[in-house]
Amino acid sequence: MELYIDTANIEDIREIAAWGVLSGATTNPTLLSRESGDYDEIIREICDLVGGPVSAEVMSEDAEGMVMEAERLAGLDENVVIKLPMSPEGLSGARELNGQGVKTNVTLVFSANQALLAARAGATFVSPFVGRLDDIGHDSSQVLSDIVEVFAVNEFSTKVIAASIRHPLHVTEAALLGCDIATIPPDVYRKMVKHPLTDRGIASFKNDWEKAQARNREAAERLG
Ligand code: E4P
Repeated sequence: MELYIDTANIEDIREIAAWGVLSGATTNPTLLSRESGDYDEIIREICDLVGGPVSAEVMSEDAEGMVMEAERLAGLDENVVIKLPMSPEGLSGARELNGQGVKTNVTLVFSANQALLAARAGATFVSPFVGRLDDIGHDSSQVLSDIVEVFAVNEFSTKVIAASIRHPLHVTEAALLGCDIATIPPDVYRKMVKHPLTDRGIASFKNDWEKAQARNREAAERLG
C-alpha cells in the first residue's frame, strides 16, 4: 500500500517527506483554508516536495465549471490530480476529464455503490472516508473491504485511497484490506513511527554503549 499525506501544510509535508515514505498527497478546501498564501503556489510546492500525485479539489457545483477549474489546476504541475465530489455532476466531470487524459480522484465516497459509479465514470482514484463513517457509527472496514472486492471482481483499474484516517489502526486496516493507498494526516504519521519499546530499546543500547566506551577508556588509561 502506498502512503500519501493528507494536509496542505508545507512544513509538515517537508518533515514527513524527509522520512522517504511518501508517494503523494491529498488536499481539500478545508485543509487549504488553514494555510496562508497563494493556494496555487501551495499546490505547486507540495508537488515539488512529494514528487507524486497531488489531489487538488474543484469547487464548482456544475460539471462544466468543474472541468474549467480542472484545466487550470492541471496546468499547475503534471502531478496534479483533480478531486471532484461524489455527485452526478462530479461523475460527469470525471468522465469528461478522463477523456482528456486528466487524472481524477472522486472524493466523499461512503459506500461501495458510490465507488462503483466513480470507477465506471473513469476515475483514477476513489476516496472512501473511513473516519467520517466511524463517526456516525458505521463500519468503515466493511465499506473499505466491499470496495476493494468490487474493484478486484470487476477488474477496475481505479485505485482505492483510504481517506479521513484518524488513527494508526485505520492505516493498518486499510493495508490489511488491500487498499492501494492510505492518505494520512501528519499527526497520525508521528504516532505510527513511535513505540515505547523502540524508545526504551534505543535508550538502553545508548546507555550500554556509553558504559562500554567508558570501561574501554579506563582500561586503556590503566595500561598506558
Ligand atoms: C481526503 O482526501 C480528505 O482530504 C480527508 O481525508 C478528509 O478527512 P477528514 O474527515 O479528517 O476531514
